[in-house]
Amino acid sequence: MKAYHLNSHAGAGRLEPVDVSRPEPAEGEVRIQVEAASLNYRDLITLDRAGQTGLNDRVPLSDGAGVVDAIGANVAQWQIGDRVAASFFRDWISGPFKSSYVSSSLGGSTTDGMLAEYVVLPATALVAVPAHLSSVEAATLPCAGVTAWHGLITRGGMRKGDTLLVQGTGGVALFGLQFAAALGARAIVISSSDEKLARARTMGGSILINYRDTPDWDAALMKATDGEGASHILELGGPGTYDRSLRSVASGGKIVQIGVLTGFGPKPDLARLQWENADIIGVTVGSVEHFTAMNRFLTDQAIHPIVDRIFGFEEVPEAYAHLRSGSHFGKVVVEF
Ligand SMILES: NC(=O)c1ccc[n+]([C@@H]2O[C@H](COP(=O)([O-])OP(=O)(O)OC[C@H]3O[C@@H](n4cnc5c(N)ncnc54)[C@H](OP(=O)(O)O)[C@@H]3O)[C@@H](O)[C@H]2O)c1
Repeated sequence: MKAYHLNSHAGAGRLEPVDVSRPEPAEGEVRIQVEAASLNYRDLITLDRAGQTGLNDRVPLSDGAGVVDAIGANVAQWQIGDRVAASFFRDWISGPFKSSYVSSSLGGSTTDGMLAEYVVLPATALVAVPAHLSSVEAATLPCAGVTAWHGLITRGGMRKGDTLLVQGTGGVALFGLQFAAALGARAIVISSSDEKLARARTMGGSILINYRDTPDWDAALMKATDGEGASHILELGGPGTYDRSLRSVASGGKIVQIGVLTGFGPKPDLARLQWENADIIGVTVGSVEHFTAMNRFLTDQAIHPIVDRIFGFEEVPEAYAHLRSGSHFGKVVVEF
């Protein structure tokens, strides 16, 4: 079968197409014929780090969807032909997070991911694809969708009448915007591009701020909300946005700490949190249980993920370059 490997080459990460043998499912496992895989910002970080860490022969990408094409012994929940997507953490099925799950993240430095024609996973690590979604659409869900769902809905309790701030118009941000619109929450979008903001308005964004033209977007947000602020914030930027997020949070609001778009290690002044009785919710993606709950919501609300562009299997390096350019709106997908 065809796959891509992430290799370390002269101190840099490199994606290499390879021909490898097709894996067979053992007891409790299922083989998926992968039809589509999607890229996340994390995949750029993994590629860049591969050179430094000497990573070799690792299949990249956490997110993929396809069809069950072989089943090992003692698997009751799946049949050949079922449409499935893989959950980001192979081992986080339900209940609270444990740090031992980290090494089971697909397409990370220790566990192979979804950029292969066939992938074998435990039957417990899969979810059914909602019937109204194509494999391309379903492949966008495992990281970006589940992260926004877990942070905003499961932990954040966002509901009608709340005010959500999303930063940018990438994968996680647009899932947050879609959830807010479906729930009847007000959505504030900041973006580098007026054109992207105009598209965000058609999706339900009601306060739109260009953070290039308005670097003090937190002040603009406060003015636009009559000094109230945002009850929920998808904090995607990290050090470059964190202090402004703190200045944007409403009394009793929640900052969902997720992103590293401007680098690692936010060192904010947290004083305002206590004055506003606000919370920080730290999130690493989510579990199979979260994924399944999100899929019920997507089905009930007939939500289709926003797919920016679809690349062919031979065009994977171009897909990475497109994501790195930041010109995308929503998700970048590879269709096999
Ligand atoms: N903790 C977790 O479990 C978890 C899970 C998923 C993602 N993440 C993190 O969340 C972040 C977003 O991930 P993603 O996959 O959704 O990324 P993505 O699709 O690549 O989104 C990138 C977009 O973010 C916007 N952006 C960049 N710099 C910005 C800034 N300084 N202020 C505001 N917006 C900015 C840009 O949108 P515009 O062009 O509209 O400005 C850019 O196109 C990443 O840091 C990723 O590592 C964490």
